[in-house]
Amino acid sequence: MSGLEEIPEEMSGLEELPDDVFEERQRPVKESSKIKMVAAMDFGTTYSGYAFKLIGIENHKNIYVKSWNEEAGGGCLPSEKAPTCVLLGANGDFKSFGYTAEREFSECEDPKNWRFFKHFKMILHRDQGLCSNTTIKDSNGKEISARLIFTHCIKFMKDDLMEMVERKKVDTEFKTENIRWVITVPAIWEEPAKQFMREAAREAEIEGDNLLLALEPEAASIYVKEMNVEVHTDMNQSRLSAFSPKTKYMIVDLGGGTVDVTVREVLRDRSLKEITKASGGAWGGLHVNQRFYQFIEDLVGNKLMEKFREQHPTAQLDLERELEQKKRNLTGDEHNRILINLPGELIELFEKTKGKSLSDFATSSGRYREKLEMKFEKLRMSLDVTMDMFKPAVDSILRHVEELVSDPLTKGLKNIILVGGFSDCKIIQKAMREKFKDFRVVIPQEAGLAVLHGAVLFGENPLIVSERVSPFTYGTRQLRFFQDGDPPEYRTEIGGVPYCKNVFNVLARGGQTFRVGQRVTTEVSPVKPNQTVMPVNVYQSNNPDQMYVDDDCREIGTMIVDMPDTTGGLDRIVDVSLAFGDTELHVTGRDQSSKEKVSVTIDLLKNN
Ligand SMILES: Nc1ncnc2c1ncn2[C@@H]1O[C@H](COP(=O)(O)OP(=O)(O)OP(=O)(O)O)[C@@H](O)[C@H]1O
Ligand SMILES: [Mg+2]
Repeated sequence: MSGLEEIPEEMSGLEELPDDVFEERQRPVKESSKIKMVAAMDFGTTYSGYAFKLIGIENHKNIYVKSWNEEAGGGCLPSEKAPTCVLLGANGDFKSFGYTAEREFSECEDPKNWRFFKHFKMILHRDQGLCSNTTIKDSNGKEISARLIFTHCIKFMKDDLMEMVERKKVDTEFKTENIRWVITVPAIWEEPAKQFMREAAREAEIEGDNLLLALEPEAASIYVKEMNVEVHTDMNQSRLSAFSPKTKYMIVDLGGGTVDVTVREVLRDRSLKEITKASGGAWGGLHVNQRFYQFIEDLVGNKLMEKFREQHPTAQLDLERELEQKKRNLTGDEHNRILINLPGELIELFEKTKGKSLSDFATSSGRYREKLEMKFEKLRMSLDVTMDMFKPAVDSILRHVEELVSDPLTKGLKNIILVGGFSDCKIIQKAMREKFKDFRVVIPQEAGLAVLHGAVLFGENPLIVSERVSPFTYGTRQLRFFQDGDPPEYRTEIGGVPYCKNVFNVLARGGQTFRVGQRVTTEVSPVKPNQTVMPVNVYQSNNPDQMYVDDDCREIGTMIVDMPDTTGGLDRIVDVSLAFGDTELHVTGRDQSSKEKVSVTIDLLKNN
């Protein structure tokens, strides 16, 4: 019977979580009375920010947000968030984060002596081989542990935030248990990616009990509702109607890496219910930059661009920053065209390698003549080409939102609220307003900070969200009597009785709503009498009606159920309970006969 994780006696069922289990799972909530500060980090693909709020302390009712004005040097880029990048020395020692890391790297004499990292959060988005040892590459193409880089970021933000608190001269001592940390993650991330973030936080000395993961669009939805935010449109200034019970609204978090969408309903007790599963894709602002970059790469040639990257990593960073700055000024209007200053190093390299100037090549080439003009180092693209850079991201976003508003579950929805840095983009705003004329498309004034502010509010009251929708179908492998219609290849005989060995034991269905604290219980028994630990694999599928453990589902991790007392032999049964209504998957266990608590852990990052 090897390979079978479980011998079921009964099908699993839904139950309310008893108080003690509920409290254990929501440990930070249980200790709410001790919390004196909520500290939140919006760990973005392109930009990160952090903020804190003191709880129950006189004269400190505000949310304090880290300002980067000094480090940013007064440019037009945001000053409440810093670029998510890290600079290490050649030996891997931490040097700097954010604007300082960018500046130090661009000013360094020999980039080969430094290790620079950016945009690494995207590796956690649908990376199916994610494990604790996953690596990423630095600017020189050298690999390093991804977790280490995430840990450096979290550690930097944590230490800097604590210094900020110190500067406020708050007359209170903060012990570890007085601080609740919140780190944001995209709602469309899978469970292994969330565990990866948690492990990085633990390495950065944030203990699991003190950490909550907030789902980014959910955090924004809390902010929008709680603050009853003032919103503005191009045409008029108006206030969003109060979020009265039964109001449904959609939050579209347009970030740098991902676009994350959630639809919420305000319940009678004014808590929030998720009404469609979180959805979205990798259509954030970075996608547009990458297309601009690809256009330039096509123009000069792949090999030459590769050489440029290798020989001039700092000029390459300048080019990326130039694209970012110029992209932000675009409105999509006919007269507003992009003018990109190409790095001198790239122009020189082109001339040296190809024996002619880039501008001569660009203006004489049939392929580019219509698309661009070039004078000296300045590249001006035609409006068509410029708009084409935005097209795939814009089209994907429009298509996705359209699908959601056509879903009967969202009936009655009026407000579509755009948040995240990319919602500042006039081209997106215009496209959304044109396409969704029957809706109110609104952009809160602090759209770029909605996630961060919301993460603080979530930390202050995690139960503000009372119901969530499971994004996937989750289950375990089950053995049951063979039935007509079961695939013959799954048939096995035990003591002459036919069994089906690959049944998908559904614990949560994709699209199913769970209240926070609601659990699903399944029974687990050992397969050998002297077994002290029982591993149970957990599978995930996009199909709400997954029937078998086959190629349409995927193993995401293993629950480890402790069974140290072997007295009962094969007759031992542990009730393993999974809670799907929180921002992360939680598991607990209880011995069925002794009613004692059993330790169950879940490992979603197997070292494969
Ligand atoms: N005015 C603008 N026009 C176009 N794009 C913009 C503008 N302002 C910001 N952006 C884009 O918004 C993105 C940053 O948004 P945000 O800070 O919300 O992302 P993030 O939190 O880093 O990413 P994610 O949430 O996906 O992890 C960048 O890609 C940036 O280029
Ligand atoms: Mg974000």
